[in-house]
Amino acid sequence: MLKKLTFFLMYVFVVVVLYSFVTVSSNFEKNIKGQENHPPVVKIITPANNNSYAWNTPIPYKIKVSDPEDGESEFQEISSNDVFLQVKYLADATKASAELKQGDKSEPTGLTAIKSSNCLNCHAFTGKLIGPSFYDISKRYPNTKLNLDILEKHIREGSSGVWGNVTMPTHTELTKEETREMVTWILENAADPNVSYFRGTEGYFTIKPPVETQQQAAFVVTASYTDHGVKDKPKQNQRGQDVIIIHGK
Ligand code: HEC
Repeated sequence: MLKKLTFFLMYVFVVVVLYSFVTVSSNFEKNIKGQENHPPVVKIITPANNNSYAWNTPIPYKIKVSDPEDGESEFQEISSNDVFLQVKYLADATKASAELKQGDKSEPTGLTAIKSSNCLNCHAFTGKLIGPSFYDISKRYPNTKLNLDILEKHIREGSSGVWGNVTMPTHTELTKEETREMVTWILENAADPNVSYFRGTEGYFTIKPPVETQQQAAFVVTASYTDHGVKDKPKQNQRGQDVIIIHGK
């Protein structure tokens, strides 16, 4: 009798222990899932996909971003300055649908590094801000190893007197790899006549007829936003983008 009772009690004990273990671990799992970072949803509100516009006229654009963690761009929870638009010339419009499908194409690491540092407080892609534009920098320095070394050093150690008397502060927090990627991106891409960059959830862009205008020419317009991840896990940042095609007429 006593043996049976002991056995029964042991049985109850084991069931209770197992049950609480399962509950605790599933709650634990839920907690971890709760900290997961979700990708932002980026939408180009205007212009509409496949619209045609006259060359050289300003085309108004508007982008909306929603992110489960960061909030809504409409309510200024997402800074307009963190939203970007890239307009790329495509000589052959028949390739447009292939471009549209590349929705998850990632951004060059150098450009991501520039966006996530403080560079854009002082530099614009085109047009002078506090410092020279990336366009002007890449026009001045051909893409050689020597120039990469010089510019990298100037970013990390600061610079003055090259472009005027305003000083660029030091960036000692950046690694050599990060500054190399940034400078490489600037020298390789910033003066590309086929791509222009815009910052902000709204504004205007212009499509210029390329040198040899083709009937089939189109522009790939990509809006993007990289979120801030979950607190304490900044490396989990996710990028969202929306791509449309615009035609020149
Ligand atoms: C506080 C403003 C400020 C910030 C932030 C800043 N820059 Fe600059 N940058 C300048 C100014 C001003 C100059 C021109 C300095 C000069 O005349 O020597 C400059 C010059 C440069 C040059 C050209 C240097 C040369 O020798 O010709 C590069 C490349 C550059 N910046 C890249 C960057 C990058 C990349 C970042 C972000 C990591 C950055 N800058 C952040 C203000 C800034």
